[in-house]
Amino acid sequence: MRGSPVTLEPPGPEPTGLGRFGEFGGRFVPETLVPALIDLEHNFREAWASEVFRAELTELLTSYAGRPTPVTECHRLSERLGLRVLLKREDLTHTGSHKINNVLGQALLTRRMQKQRVIAETGAGQHGVATATVAALFGLDCVVFMGAVDVERQALNVFRMQSLGADVVPVTSGSATLKDAINEALRDWVATVDTTHYCIGSVVGPHPYPWMVREFQRVVGDEAREQCRAILGTDPDLVVACVGGGSNAIGTFAGFLDTSARLVGVEAGGHGLESGQHGASVSRGVPGVLHGSRSLFLQDEDGQILEAHSISAGLDYPGVGPEHAELAATGRAEYAFATDDEAVAGFQLLSVTEGIVPALEPAHAIGWLARESGRAVPAGSTVLVTLSGRGDKDVALIAERLTGERL
Ligand SMILES: Cc1ncc(COP(=O)(O)O)c(C=O)c1O
Repeated sequence: MRGSPVTLEPPGPEPTGLGRFGEFGGRFVPETLVPALIDLEHNFREAWASEVFRAELTELLTSYAGRPTPVTECHRLSERLGLRVLLKREDLTHTGSHKINNVLGQALLTRRMQKQRVIAETGAGQHGVATATVAALFGLDCVVFMGAVDVERQALNVFRMQSLGADVVPVTSGSATLKDAINEALRDWVATVDTTHYCIGSVVGPHPYPWMVREFQRVVGDEAREQCRAILGTDPDLVVACVGGGSNAIGTFAGFLDTSARLVGVEAGGHGLESGQHGASVSRGVPGVLHGSRSLFLQDEDGQILEAHSISAGLDYPGVGPEHAELAATGRAEYAFATDDEAVAGFQLLSVTEGIVPALEPAHAIGWLARESGRAVPAGSTVLVTLSGRGDKDVALIAERLTGERL
């Protein structure tokens, strides 16, 4: 069910003060970045309140990104699980994930701020691909920082970014994954801030990023609410989305915060929470400061950031956006997890029941639903799951895991 053409709602609630969501958020950055963040906040506030800006973004989201994305009712999966399952199909956007929504908004802001160069960090490569795509569309120079480990496991997306004209810089420090790519991008930004916009890919980082990225992603939840009401005649009982930094989950939740729907974010359970090798920063994180904002992070007793682990590069981040930390603290949203094995099972289940091959990130949400149907999710519940991306990027990895052979 596709529904009427996308309309961007006027601005949603702003965080207070210097971008606080309760005790989380804020702006913990080197002095050199403060003017750039103030400038960005100012430009975003003005642009987002402007009907001209929203109309321009609407046009791009419609004619370039392919919005509105449909909501698909999953008959065979529903029957299998004893639930009524609907999928919000962000996998059907241009570039194959929800990341394009945010990047189109930030590209328009880059032009408004008269900057010629964008930098980005990427884990799974989807945000990097979206940024490289839009940089090509707008004629901007583009550099993408990517952990060396992720460069290896997401080779397909590295080649896609390079084909789009972006320079992909492998980062070998630390765990050589997303956290280290963000460090490197921040380092570049400090040195180039006059000419460069840092296009952050999730609801993380210093104010105004968590607020701005949520506003650019809320189109997912606003559309889904309208579509669910048309299909179900009411809101779903449960709204589920996977959580890395948390952009697709917060975008989805934004559409349902004022309803009675239960909101569930599914984090990466990796090898299991007891193994210590996971990415469950809400379930197992503690308050701290990283990448310019106060939130929940996986840390040791000395406050050192721990390495996250997930089969999926997009969920392999030791923290979560500050608004999620606040939603967890107030109890408005719940945070659960699915292990690597459960995510692979979710990948297989959706593929064979519905003919939809999901990215490994939302496969965690499907895996959790399969585990919890009839338990935490009562039989007969209506459930909306955001399918944040398609699985092409992950098929080689899954094939190797299941058959032991590289494609
Ligand atoms: C398809 C997909 N879903 C989800 C995520 C996780 O990011 P977020 O939590 O910001 O949506 C990623 C990150 O790369 C992704 O590629």
